[in-house]
Amino acid sequence: MGESIRGLKRTHMCGELTTQNLGQTAVLMGWVQRRRDLGGLIFVTLRDRTGIIQLVFDQEDSKTLFDKAATLRSEYVIACKGEVISRAPEAINPNMATGSIEVKAQELRILSTSETPPFYIEDDTNVGEALRYKYRYLDLRRPEMQKNLMIRHRIARVVRDFLNDKGFLDIETPMLTKSTPEGARDYLVPSRVHPGEFYALPQSPQLFKQLLMLAGYDRYYQIVRCFRDEDLRADRQPEFTQIDIEMSFVELEDILALNEQMIAHIFKQVLDIDIPLPLKRMTYKEAMERFGSDKPDTRFGLELMDVSPLVADSDFKVFSGAVKNGGSVRAINAKGCGAKFSRREIDGLGEYVKTYRAKGLAWINVAQEGIKSPIAKFLSQEELEAILKALNAETGDLLLFVADEDEVVFQALGHLRLELAKRLDLIPDDKYDLLWITEFPLFEYDEEESRYVAKHHPFTSPMDEDLHLLDSEPEKVRAKAYDMVLNGAEIGGGSIRIHDSHIQERMFKALGFTMEKAWEQFGFLLEAFKFGTPPHGGIAYGLDRIAAILAGRSSIRDVIAFPKVQNASDPMTNAPSPVDEKQLKELAIRVEKRAEDKEV
Ligand code: AMO
Ligand code: AMP
Repeated sequence: MGESIRGLKRTHMCGELTTQNLGQTAVLMGWVQRRRDLGGLIFVTLRDRTGIIQLVFDQEDSKTLFDKAATLRSEYVIACKGEVISRAPEAINPNMATGSIEVKAQELRILSTSETPPFYIEDDTNVGEALRYKYRYLDLRRPEMQKNLMIRHRIARVVRDFLNDKGFLDIETPMLTKSTPEGARDYLVPSRVHPGEFYALPQSPQLFKQLLMLAGYDRYYQIVRCFRDEDLRADRQPEFTQIDIEMSFVELEDILALNEQMIAHIFKQVLDIDIPLPLKRMTYKEAMERFGSDKPDTRFGLELMDVSPLVADSDFKVFSGAVKNGGSVRAINAKGCGAKFSRREIDGLGEYVKTYRAKGLAWINVAQEGIKSPIAKFLSQEELEAILKALNAETGDLLLFVADEDEVVFQALGHLRLELAKRLDLIPDDKYDLLWITEFPLFEYDEEESRYVAKHHPFTSPMDEDLHLLDSEPEKVRAKAYDMVLNGAEIGGGSIRIHDSHIQERMFKALGFTMEKAWEQFGFLLEAFKFGTPPHGGIAYGLDRIAAILAGRSSIRDVIAFPKVQNASDPMTNAPSPVDEKQLKELAIRVEKRAEDKEV
């Protein structure tokens, strides 16, 4: 079985050895990547999280040592002592960081053997997800995964350094708490002491960080786990990590200024990239109108254009009807795509926008031989010409239109824009595009509940300019809220909070809350607000999202050591799983099968 390391001290990490170490004796410890036998020589590549180095065992030096090396298999854990030597010129491996040196072994200890792993530990594996997550600890041995987690660590460290230097205090807030107002479903934890009662895991520390401002702990931060029971996506996990920040006695400008310094600092320290400040800013309205999204990827064009005024009185009822009903007709000029896309591909785009509730996708192909379009016959010559002019249409272009209520038009064209950019390969992957989105609407209408709900959360302050509309036309009120967007992803969001109890009351009213209901849910915060509240505001970033983008990964799972898979389970631990009857009894819980579960 395993030998001990007694008396051996690791002197170097594998990937850190360079020609500077030539002639030195090194003691290395790590995992065997590969063993190759070449007659009287055995080559072993040894891996730790800094990289790999080649060990050489020479039969001429010691037969015992050589025979022991011959027993090594992939993923054995070994300690090896030897001299750092340079490789013969013909043996130099330029693809390996340590490729011009190797370690001539003098002593070998096999600390642990390994069964053949279910997959080979290397980058670019095509191993299925099921296996990767079941054996996540092996998956995590892969160099690219180790790099991802190291980048994540560096970001967290740089953030802490930055905020500590700016006088922020790191303060923890409870995990077993009451429902927080972020609008997702809660994860609940049953109380044994209070049968039938539950804690909620925090969706964010929102209320607590506001209470900390009240308590006088100006400048708070925390790198903190948050829990939201939502459907998983590439950028969503049920538990994820926020960089959570709150400040007192500040206005919106102060918060934005500090935060863009922080993000620029992260880029500089982690990737050595200079982010020019101040960051671009765009209002929510402009983002929606130009990009059909409140997290626009502005690394490429394909902007939306409003052609409503040109078709408001058209005989084509699909267009004029949408405008008459208060909606709009907007278009994207897919430059050069008329010549590029087949009829089938264009029909495919139509199907694509339907997944975003569009009823159809009208198109005009500005072909060499003339206009090709299923809708041209419904448009007058003047309308057609006006449209072509407005969209700067040139021969070869494909014009794509959606007519509907604004929300649907934006959704459909916003996604279509991204899809086109992918197909046309328009997104430069070496570019980092950071901007603020500001002036969000304070409310959004919830069809299901038939009432306004807070777009951010109910403690977000309205803009002073719009206060007078709060009771009469709440849908027009803009908020002192902001999101930071990086390459089309929402990486952070926050707001200035309401610190005036009268405005808070009006806010709850607009949300259709009675004061009793508001007190029931947030009473402790409203009570606290009676005792001297400083003006305050803050922001929270998705650390997982920032890390994924900086590591060049498309899913946040790649920067989380032990993530959940699509159905919110963990194939390694098998969580969630049934518990003992005894545990349930202690909690006074009885589990019943739901009708839909019985069917399967
Ligand atoms: P918000 O709900 O916008 O704001 O969350 C802040 C940031 O957290 C990230 N994020 C997620 N990341 C991974 N998986 C998820 N399920 C997930 N949900 C959110 C996003 C988002 O921008 N308390 C407020 C902040 C504030 O007002 O200060 C809040 O939580 O990157
Ligand atoms: P129809 O008159 O329904 O056959 O539609 C004519 C064309 O308009 C087809 O190409 C449809 O895809 C398109 N179309 C239908 N509804 C819409 C809509 N709401 N927005 C944009 N195009 C539409």
